[in-house]
Amino acid sequence: MPAPPVYIDEDVGRDDDSAVGTEGAPYKTLLHAMIKHPPDTTTYLTRKSETGPVGEDGDEGVRLEWKPASKSALKKATNLFEQHKKKQAKAAELAIRENAEAVKRQQVLEEAKKVIIEEDASLPAPIRIRLDETDPAKIKLGTPDSPGTRIRVLGRVHHLRSQKDVMFVTLKDGYGQMQCVFTGKLIRAYAAMTLTLETSLAIHGELRSLPPKAHAPLDRELHADFFTVIGAAVGDKEAITNKVQADGDAQTLLDNRHLVLRGENASSIMKVRAAVTRAFRQTYQETRVLEVTPPAMVQTQVEGGATLFEFNYYGEKAYLTQSSQLYLETCVASLGDVFCICPSFRAEKSLTRRHLSEYMHIEAELDFIQFDDLLAHLEHVICRVIDITLADPVIAAYVKELNPKFAAPHRPFRRMKYEEAIQWLIEHEIPNEDGEPHKFGDDIAEAAERKMTDELNVPIFLTHFPVEIKAFYMKKDDQDKRVTESVDVLMPGVGEIVGGSMRIDDYEELMAGYKRVGIDPAPYYWYTDQRRYGTSPHGGYGLGLERFLAWMCGRWTVRECTLYPRFAYRCTP
Ligand code: 4AD
Repeated sequence: MPAPPVYIDEDVGRDDDSAVGTEGAPYKTLLHAMIKHPPDTTTYLTRKSETGPVGEDGDEGVRLEWKPASKSALKKATNLFEQHKKKQAKAAELAIRENAEAVKRQQVLEEAKKVIIEEDASLPAPIRIRLDETDPAKIKLGTPDSPGTRIRVLGRVHHLRSQKDVMFVTLKDGYGQMQCVFTGKLIRAYAAMTLTLETSLAIHGELRSLPPKAHAPLDRELHADFFTVIGAAVGDKEAITNKVQADGDAQTLLDNRHLVLRGENASSIMKVRAAVTRAFRQTYQETRVLEVTPPAMVQTQVEGGATLFEFNYYGEKAYLTQSSQLYLETCVASLGDVFCICPSFRAEKSLTRRHLSEYMHIEAELDFIQFDDLLAHLEHVICRVIDITLADPVIAAYVKELNPKFAAPHRPFRRMKYEEAIQWLIEHEIPNEDGEPHKFGDDIAEAAERKMTDELNVPIFLTHFPVEIKAFYMKKDDQDKRVTESVDVLMPGVGEIVGGSMRIDDYEELMAGYKRVGIDPAPYYWYTDQRRYGTSPHGGYGLGLERFLAWMCGRWTVRECTLYPRFAYRCTP
């Protein structure tokens, strides 16, 4: 009995499992029909509607009769069908080959499971060291042919390179990296054959110098005689190199920040961050500025209501602090000059490369000073912090790697009054936010500020901002009451990294300050009281640690300079 014809309807047919090639369930294309019913003995009947495909309203148009497929259609479909068959044959061949390889690998792995790695009890007990340790009193380095001290190291696989008879494992432990050489039985063991990046290991062996022309961290390598896997890292699709790639999409990298932090760049920045923080503390200690820790939960604003994070505090309105400045001011009477290194919070709505919602704010407040003293202090602190940080050769090497062009700034920093900056912007035809030439009283926008800083390419003390564009607490300049004794420190590549000023120390003037910006003075009674209980000329500043680091480490954005950046709509991980 001849096979029944196969039906193809270009309009209503389907090329999926719902079609079987009958009149009631036709296919859509001739190629699909051929794949399902090979051409030799099959008759293909096709049809389509005259007025085009079926409309959404169910209008099927005028349907033509079923007709045998035309010669040209059959020829075209047969060509495609032949190509399809070739592709399938190739895929089948590949699958067979892969399968054979998988079977072979499985056999090799089964064999590898029989290789038992045991520590040779006759060897000297290993000494545990961290990967950056070099103390010759503790570790004797062997030569490529003579033994050195036997050591034990613990860490995670950073790089893996296999050759025929040797496997090079670069181990990292947060302190440094070490090249470990596996040979002989060790590389035939199951654990070595299936080793993945980030797997944590304990490795024992001798530490030796490198053979000529070889390169490895600290010019040495560990000749492993024993190892154990402490925690295997997932591989294949889930391997760290698949999850985070240097040129990966920004959101994916942020979602996987915990894995990004395992990379060399991110971890170097975190180490520089720790060193810079330490250097600030040392500098403040040297200049007798005392560390305090003001509260993060507050009921007053410092830098304007627009960026306050508000929350419910036992039924009362409270905020995450924008700045600890007001609290620092209350400390100087009893503690002298003070500083804090605490997070500040800003509900910044715009996404810029230098704004975070939570950032590390280094703030200081100095008592009995004049504006020039504040500038001199700032210059000293910034330069001293850089000097201390770069005096550590390990940290200096990280900075060099991250930002090869970085050089410690020269003193004195360039002083520029706001009014001069406005003039400079006009002369250089850099418009204000409305696209017009800048004029006195304009807020200098981020882009304009950065253009100017990058052009001048030196640290700048931008001073004497107009009263109207600055916070309520800033002291006016006695010589020019239109402006305040205020300073922004601008650095090339980043722009503003510090905002500071002298503070209003007169009671009446402060009350006028509250009034000017529409703040109710009542909740600020404790701040105002500084002016009632022995006032003093004083001033201070706040420095954004992430901006300082972006400048020093040459980073495009402050988001790279904190562990887990928080900015608009990002609070994970
Ligand atoms: O200029 P700001 O707003 O000044 C103050 O908060 C003062 N009350 C500080 C003081 O005088 N004690 O902020 C100071 C610095 C900025 O120069 C910048 O480096 C950083 O804090 N900063 C930010 N850093 C990251 N993300 C943000 N959203 C920041 N806002 C300010």
